[in-house]
Amino acid sequence: MRLLSVIVGSLAVTVNAIWPEPRSVTTGSTFIRLSADIELDVVNQVTGSIGLRWAQEGIQSILAKAQGKSEEWIADQPETILKAAFERFRGNVLNAGFIPRKFFTRDGFVEYELGLQPEVSSRPLTRVELIIESKASYAKRVQDGSAAGEGYQLFLSPEGTAKIVTASTNGGLYALSTLEQLFYTSSHGHIYTVLAPISITDSPMYSHRGLNLDISRNFIAPSDAKRVISALSFNKMNRLHIHATDAQSWPLVIPSIPSLAEKGAYEPDQVWTAEDLADVQRYGRIHGVEVYLEIDVPGHTTSIAASHPNLITAATQDPWTKYAAEPPSGQLKLDSPAVYTFLTKLFNDILPRSAFYSKHFHFGGDELNRAAYELDDTVKSSDPTILKPLVQKFTDHILSMAKKHSLRPILWEEMVLDWNLTLPSNTIIQTWRSSAIIADITSRGHAVLFGANTHWYLDCGMGVFLDPIHPMPGLPGSPPPTSHLTSPPFPDYCSPYKNWRHIYTYDPLANITLSAEQEKLVLGGEVHLWGEMTDAISLDGMLWPRVSAAAEVLWRGGGRSVDEGVTRRLAEMRERLVGKGVSSGMVQMEWCLRNKGMCKL
Ligand SMILES: *[C@@H]1O[C@H](CO)[C@@H](O)[C@H](O)[C@H]1NC(C)=O
Ligand SMILES: *[C@@H]1O[C@H](CO)[C@@H](O)[C@H](O)[C@H]1NC(C)=O
Repeated sequence: MRLLSVIVGSLAVTVNAIWPEPRSVTTGSTFIRLSADIELDVVNQVTGSIGLRWAQEGIQSILAKAQGKSEEWIADQPETILKAAFERFRGNVLNAGFIPRKFFTRDGFVEYELGLQPEVSSRPLTRVELIIESKASYAKRVQDGSAAGEGYQLFLSPEGTAKIVTASTNGGLYALSTLEQLFYTSSHGHIYTVLAPISITDSPMYSHRGLNLDISRNFIAPSDAKRVISALSFNKMNRLHIHATDAQSWPLVIPSIPSLAEKGAYEPDQVWTAEDLADVQRYGRIHGVEVYLEIDVPGHTTSIAASHPNLITAATQDPWTKYAAEPPSGQLKLDSPAVYTFLTKLFNDILPRSAFYSKHFHFGGDELNRAAYELDDTVKSSDPTILKPLVQKFTDHILSMAKKHSLRPILWEEMVLDWNLTLPSNTIIQTWRSSAIIADITSRGHAVLFGANTHWYLDCGMGVFLDPIHPMPGLPGSPPPTSHLTSPPFPDYCSPYKNWRHIYTYDPLANITLSAEQEKLVLGGEVHLWGEMTDAISLDGMLWPRVSAAAEVLWRGGGRSVDEGVTRRLAEMRERLVGKGVSSGMVQMEWCLRNKGMCKL
């Protein structure tokens, strides 16, 4: 037994490394092995359903029971989703596994040969019971009304049974993520925890925990988005905001307007077909991630000019600087019947398809360039007093379509803060320029998402992507040098690079005071990856581990500080993501992970 205690002691540095950190955890120090034959029983106390007999009868029974129901209905049942999640869990722990070697010195990593110890292997974990309760009974159980949505309880007994209780499918998914993180693999292939008995009660701080991913400035394929979704789900994130179209390219196939992607995508094969989109959204649904689209209008629309030149004003001006924040310039004309007809057709195509999988749709509304409307034959003015009623009319038109298709609209903050528009009360406003404006927007009664560029822009710090007009500034006739284009350090518009600590210590509610009513309007936030300097090749390293850092803020709330415990816990999450095929960036130098306590300053 001496060996056993040595191991418990040395493993204690990596145990309880759940990311994001649960609200409440108690653990013991008993070994439990996880059996390769582990099974899941789902007991749905709400519908009293099919799940009870799942383990014995499998999918055929469910199909028989669900006679007359569509495949979509079956795929959408909590039991179906959780059973699939359990198969992934089992695949992950049995096949990928995680040997925590990297967290010890070479001589300090002593493994307990579990297989040789009958008292250990005699009580493996063979069964997970997952109970779905009504929201009311769950809230009573945990004495916390806020937890009912996506919370869960997880109990792992020393006798080798695991019990999960939740009131939602997502709660079940998250409990399985947590369970996966409790287990390690030994070099001999045993899967074990040293923490039993374990009792966890967990729930998120914010209901909207998202990533905004730009697939337009550089193409990101549906298969890449799926890899992102799996990793989001493992980090207990529940939204993927696809910034689907922009000035540079239009990768989204709109079947009723095929020329948009035919002419607007970079390449014929760099597109998301209607089937691709449905496939990604469906994949999101079974991972507990709502995938919703943004079609940014009226700005950021130059790529429409490739197929519909008459709808766009100031398209691809040279120089572009007066007409846009980055090349190419171009916006939808503001008071054009043809634009209105186009938008009606566009949104009548995409909104009902999207609404099948998502409750939200993002209509953009950022960075409207006023000068572009001087060139707009339907406006011929950049005067805000002339433009404002036209922007209101334009926005009323698209938001009426959101209402028609029962979608909750999201808009960028400019529509409220710069244009003072009157918007339907259910409109969610996404902020990006600072966090201070959260107070302003919620005081107007709108729900809000945080994610300020000062902290949560993952694209910052990659360097300026524009070239100087004159390679030799200072020559006679040259414009005055603009230092960020012509001489080091060539910072970009939002330098510096936001490393994971910068992301992790973001406190969206710092420096502002909100009433209780206003606090309720802060739904959560999104971390952003704009695509100027990211394509599918560099995607994973740009996202991870930094999205994980944001995930813990969204799960537990802002105002967090970094210490070695956080670093090591995140480093474990990183290793687990790598094991799932995600090419994550690093959290810390290996020597520091191997020499605990030695990398302090
Ligand atoms: C909106 O209101 C702000 C603050 O009162 C003002 O500065 C801005 O000019 C207004 N914008 C328009 C387009 O009316
Ligand atoms: C809050 O104010 C401090 C001090 O001015 C600043 O450093 C910090 O970035 C602010 N936080 C946010 C989220 O804006």
